[in-house]
Amino acid sequence: MSNSKNRDSLDFFFNPASVAIIGASKTPGKIGHELLRNLTQSGFGGKIFPVNPKAGKILGYICYKSIVDVPSPVDLGIVVVPADLVEGVTRDCVTKQVKGIIIITSGFSEVGNKELEERIVEIARGKLRIVGPNTFGIYYAGTKMNATFGPTKVLEGHTAFITQSGALGLALMDWTTEEKYGVSAIVSIGNKSDVDDADLIEYFSSDSLTRSILIYMEGLKGGRKFYEISKSATRKKPIVVIKAGRSKRGAQAASSHTGSIAGQDTVFSAAFEQAGIMRAEGMTQAFDWIQAINENPVPKGENLAIVTNGGGVGVLATDKCEALGLKLTDISTNLADDLKQIMPSFGSVKNPIDITANADDVLYAKVLDVLFRSEDVDSIIALFCQTANIDPVLFAQAIISLRNKENFKKPLTCAFIGGHLSQIAYSTMLEGQFAAYPTAERAVDSMYALTTRYRQLSRWKAEEV
Ligand code: COA
Repeated sequence: MSNSKNRDSLDFFFNPASVAIIGASKTPGKIGHELLRNLTQSGFGGKIFPVNPKAGKILGYICYKSIVDVPSPVDLGIVVVPADLVEGVTRDCVTKQVKGIIIITSGFSEVGNKELEERIVEIARGKLRIVGPNTFGIYYAGTKMNATFGPTKVLEGHTAFITQSGALGLALMDWTTEEKYGVSAIVSIGNKSDVDDADLIEYFSSDSLTRSILIYMEGLKGGRKFYEISKSATRKKPIVVIKAGRSKRGAQAASSHTGSIAGQDTVFSAAFEQAGIMRAEGMTQAFDWIQAINENPVPKGENLAIVTNGGGVGVLATDKCEALGLKLTDISTNLADDLKQIMPSFGSVKNPIDITANADDVLYAKVLDVLFRSEDVDSIIALFCQTANIDPVLFAQAIISLRNKENFKKPLTCAFIGGHLSQIAYSTMLEGQFAAYPTAERAVDSMYALTTRYRQLSRWKAEEV
């Protein structure tokens, strides 16, 4: 089902004036109850209509026997009835002129029941759009709509997360809040019987709340459409994909999980590369990259400086930079002179800049300030080792206050290495919307993502000329 005005055509999934939950239940613990509870408690401002043949009231809301009995128009239907009832409910939704439905129900192509899924798509064709079946729903921060049976609380942010795995997505909903990775949207895409990754990429590439798009993918239908849409979307916003099923056995597991054909991995990698999609190895790397991308400007060049109060981590980070093809800038005489004026004589003004374990938070902040001002440096990795001389939390606060200065226009990734206090400092940085990590390697890897973005944008700009 294709639609050229995709953004408008999918808006009712994220910004509906009214939502009906078909299969809403009075019984706590049932999916039809939890979903209604989440929706009513999320702060969503649209109308909500529970639908259940037993009618009555659920959670204080008047319940209707059928969607066709709802006395006003319905934009979005959420279907939570058993699989053998979904066909009839879809017909009713068409009669009611519902614009889109999210089918939560499992038991379709993912378990070999393709015919039923195809019949439902046929009923809907040209009349309403379908997300699913086999999904946990949609969360959208813009309308505070939590139409999922996942966690009630979701941390608002700027990444649209599209997931083909339900359980993984549900777990990640909780995890993102815990780890302070905010999301603009979460879409459990399920079996992709109609709305697919490409449709959502197109939608979120024009969504003002979304700065980056993260996709967990097992398989893909409509490769050409995905490639074309992604290629233009990455010009506007970064897309990071975790594509599972790299290995032979992993591909088999993906196929039995969602019924997807995992496809040849090398073909995916090449297509992602050409479309400008960044492929992450796994969850940690994907979220690290997204964090760096969301919280930083794109670098203006490749001249990178590392500053550290621990010589060892400076060396480790340098090795990692070299392995990833990141360029440590040669410190110019002018910059070295500026640094020497504030640094201890036994420190090193070569890159990595080692301010030594003797440094305190005030000195560290001064060095960063010099690097932010220097025209020789495009981006900075700040490595922090907990020592007796420096309070990690004070250090974190010093960096946060630097951001308010006018010269803070460069990408920065930080690592906080140490015990309990370093953990607090690391959390303080995340709350302050900085790209902070618990290891030097992860801070470097995240700078790699930013540099990749710089390289992509420069290449595309050059191609335009
Ligand atoms: N219209 C509206 N409601 C109807 C209905 C109809 N035509 N026919 C029945 N219902 C009601 C039922 O009466 C019931 O409400 P009740 O609790 O008040 O009795 C409610 O719909 C649900 O039906 P029920 O038969 O109790 O099903 P269930 O809640 O046990 O399971 C699903 C329904 C959809 C949750 C289940 O079939 C399913 O697919 N579970 C897996 C979901 C999943 O994991 N999805 C993927 C996540 S990633």
